[in-house]
Amino acid sequence: MPFAGLDLTGRKALVTGAARGIGATLAVGLAQAGADVAVTDMASDESWEGLSGVVMRIRNEGQVGLAADLDVQDVAEIRPTMRRIADELGGLDILVNNAGIRRRAPALQVTEEDWDAVMDTNLKGAFFCAQAAARLMIPQEFGRIINIASQMALVGSVNRAAYCASKGGLANLTRVLALEWAQHGITVNAIGPGPTTTPGLLEADDRDADELRAELAVKMPLGRRMEPEELVGAAVYLASNSAGATTGHLLVVDGGWTAL
Ligand SMILES: NC(=O)c1ccc[n+]([C@@H]2O[C@H](COP(=O)([O-])OP(=O)(O)OC[C@H]3O[C@@H](n4cnc5c(N)ncnc54)[C@H](O)[C@@H]3O)[C@@H](O)[C@H]2O)c1
Repeated sequence: MPFAGLDLTGRKALVTGAARGIGATLAVGLAQAGADVAVTDMASDESWEGLSGVVMRIRNEGQVGLAADLDVQDVAEIRPTMRRIADELGGLDILVNNAGIRRRAPALQVTEEDWDAVMDTNLKGAFFCAQAAARLMIPQEFGRIINIASQMALVGSVNRAAYCASKGGLANLTRVLALEWAQHGITVNAIGPGPTTTPGLLEADDRDADELRAELAVKMPLGRRMEPEELVGAAVYLASNSAGATTGHLLVVDGGWTAL
């Protein structure tokens, strides 16, 4: 069997939460590898502006790019939106479940609203997006579902009770879906990024430069935050024909955070 390569030519991909940050970078990366890519995010002027910029970058790579509103907390909207996108793209082969939020608070101060918002986006939203995608992928007997978890799927972190629980849940959900859908030619994997410079991370981080340096020196063997582009190779691999036997895996790309 020859090496199947990493080329995604002809593949149709959808990336959720792709108006900015990791999702935007992965969407463009999949296009650079040859996929046509749809990008979705919450309905807002800011998101639409972000999505439009990403679509332009996808088209600059010579690929089909399109954008749609999709709040992944709105479960009733997931299936019809995904069906519309698949109709427009001509199918759906790759789903990147990237939409996610973070709320930082000591466990004693976490409210029910905080807990539900994080779980409904990071875990429930990802599950129902995967379910809707699998319904489109099963008849074609091919699919690649990539869940963007976190290195915090494997280790705890103070002030992030709901976030760590959601990402740990997403990693184990990845294994269950991998087991159920392997028979249909669908692989389900997760990527566990370490701290990556994105608008969302910077908004949530009120530490000064000295505090940040101290944390990175202790916890991050790489010694710096990662850039979103450093996650593209992992996503392209998991989306490719070469990854047909890789399923139920959490691929940490975390600068060594969980190696300590
Ligand atoms: N940046 C990091 O350090 C880091 C580390 C590990 C994991 N992650 C994960 O990577 C993913 C992307 O994170 P990021 O840092 O790029 O964040 P970000 O906040 O910069 O971007 C997240 C995007 O998701 C969208 N989004 C949020 N809620 C949504 C919803 N309900 N429906 C649709 N879209 C929604 C936002 O509008 C935004 O465009 C998240 O799942 C996050 O947990 C990030």
